[in-house]
Amino acid sequence: MAGHIPEDKLAEVRQAADIVEIIGESVLLKKSGKNFAGLCPFHAEKTPSFTVSPDKQIFHCFGCGAGGNVFSFVMKRDGVGFGEAVRSLAARCGVDLPERPLSGRAKRRESEEGSLFEVNQSAADFFRQALLQQAAGQPALAYLERRGVARATVERFGLGYAPKGWDHLIGALTRRKFTPALLEKAGLAVPRRDGSGHYDRFRDRIMFPIHDERGRVVGFGGRVMDNGTPKYLNSPETLVYTKRRVLYGLNHAKEACRRVGSAFIVEGYLDLIALHQHGIAHAVATLGTALTPEQIRLLARYAGRMVLVYDSDDAGIRSARRCIDLFWKEHADFRRGDVFREEHADTRILVLPEGHDPDSFLQVHGADAFRRLAHDAPGIITFVMEQAVLRHGLGTEGKIRIVDELQDHLSAINDPVARALYVKQLAERIHLEETVILERLKAQAAPTAATRARARTADRSGGQPPENPERFEERIIAMMLQFPEIIAEIAKGAVLENVTNPLLKAAGEILVRHRFSGSQQLPELLAKLEEGPLKQTLVALAMDDERLTRRGCQSLLRQFIASRQKRVNGRSLQAAIEAAEREQNEAEVMRLLIEKQKMAVRREKQKMSALRGK
Ligand code: GTP
Ligand code: MN
Repeated sequence: MAGHIPEDKLAEVRQAADIVEIIGESVLLKKSGKNFAGLCPFHAEKTPSFTVSPDKQIFHCFGCGAGGNVFSFVMKRDGVGFGEAVRSLAARCGVDLPERPLSGRAKRRESEEGSLFEVNQSAADFFRQALLQQAAGQPALAYLERRGVARATVERFGLGYAPKGWDHLIGALTRRKFTPALLEKAGLAVPRRDGSGHYDRFRDRIMFPIHDERGRVVGFGGRVMDNGTPKYLNSPETLVYTKRRVLYGLNHAKEACRRVGSAFIVEGYLDLIALHQHGIAHAVATLGTALTPEQIRLLARYAGRMVLVYDSDDAGIRSARRCIDLFWKEHADFRRGDVFREEHADTRILVLPEGHDPDSFLQVHGADAFRRLAHDAPGIITFVMEQAVLRHGLGTEGKIRIVDELQDHLSAINDPVARALYVKQLAERIHLEETVILERLKAQAAPTAATRARARTADRSGGQPPENPERFEERIIAMMLQFPEIIAEIAKGAVLENVTNPLLKAAGEILVRHRFSGSQQLPELLAKLEEGPLKQTLVALAMDDERLTRRGCQSLLRQFIASRQKRVNGRSLQAAIEAAEREQNEAEVMRLLIEKQKMAVRREKQKMSALRGK
């Protein structure tokens, strides 16, 4: 299945790619006992049932059953095959693999992306040199200084200067063997109308390289140093630059976002830079465009809470409202089955005092004042409420409009506790009976709420171990995983022959066959198995073993053997009845039938309690 990737290389990648780190890039994980838990990226859920075990290097979702090792995760996340998953992990972890036989088209695309990153990086180097080392860059450097950008910040963000003139960059880069056609593809050069070559897109501007989250240069923004227009000129979209998927500064911010658990989202290059310079590193910028769902998803990998920061003017507030809509749309997407993070509910809106953007606010009031404002920033719902109150007032008409406006938002909140609290908050804010608002919501949201409640109940009982036969068998196999020393005993006692679920039986047999010796062997064992239900079963059980104790296991094993014994007894009872009938021993037949009846009742009771447990 691994094709041309040698076994030792696979092992090397497996050892180098820490599953918690890899999964942590796309799922917000929280430590939970020995494991990490988060919201499953493969199905929509509100309570985390997605578990990652650093010891065993496996993941498993108790909700949807997805599970496996680090390779399985990347396959599922990226929708790629095994080989592809191994390659991308190898590249990430610096493991060299033999050349891959790529399809012609994939190869061309990959090499084209590669050359775009390369030419962008070279351009960034050129601009930086022009700023720092050339006389022509002096005014630009002075401008940045005037704007309060420290030299260290200039270097950290790789700021530069695009010289005045029409072909400085083209000249420098073509000397380094980049073609004008490539510069055009990268958005750095523009073809002349008359077809006679190209000219530099960016001229006499301060240059801000834009990086993807991995730190590769994907595009540029260039600012004029006077009142010229446009104030900012940005790279056009290219093969490696999709505006709605990029957040400026994320490469610098992601570690801090993860550490702090939240992120500021601002609008401008210099706002972002000012925040970082003031020691607030968990911040990114949208670069003046409205926040997109893609950007939210990207950022949500690193931060649970988001604080949207806007200037005080109307445009800022309008933009905030757009973003609120967007967040609610994310809720709606969740109901359609998309990945959604509960933490979105914790999004806050920070509107800066009159006339300030983050940059100017920090220059005047400093980082602590900014942090205080952020601390008091209202949640997204509270913000909409206050906006509605401001707009409509608290007269009778106003109150009706406010409820009208908010009912969609409120009924979109999935968490019933949060919803109830917000309803209460609104009721108190506008002096209205809670029940009146609830009535409004009920009409709208009843069916989905019921569906959700059902789903949640099902979820919960999934974690409990009802004593049904299937569960019994599961625990036997889980036990083999946790206490491999009993495997020999199990093999000797032919326990697996009595396991009726074929998947569980196969899982147990694999453990016997591989002389399973403990969880350190698990990654290797899993790597040998094809993706599929058997592997998933094994992973699920490996995760499940946490609840078992050695003593519990031994009694479990005894119970299991005893219960199978009873089944055997049942079979012999039937044989005895038949024998007594043949002998026409009426009394014996009667006695045996009563015995059988009792056994049937016992079994029925067992079945019922198992069903209740389900
Ligand atoms: P400074 O004036 O340098 O402090 O920038 P600013 O970020 O405060 O400017 P502003 O609030 O006007 O704009 C916010 C962001 O919108 C900028 O950082 C740019 O990303 C973007 N932007 C502003 N003006 C333009 C423009 O003329 N063209 C384009 N494409 N984007 C702009
Ligand atoms: Mn500004």
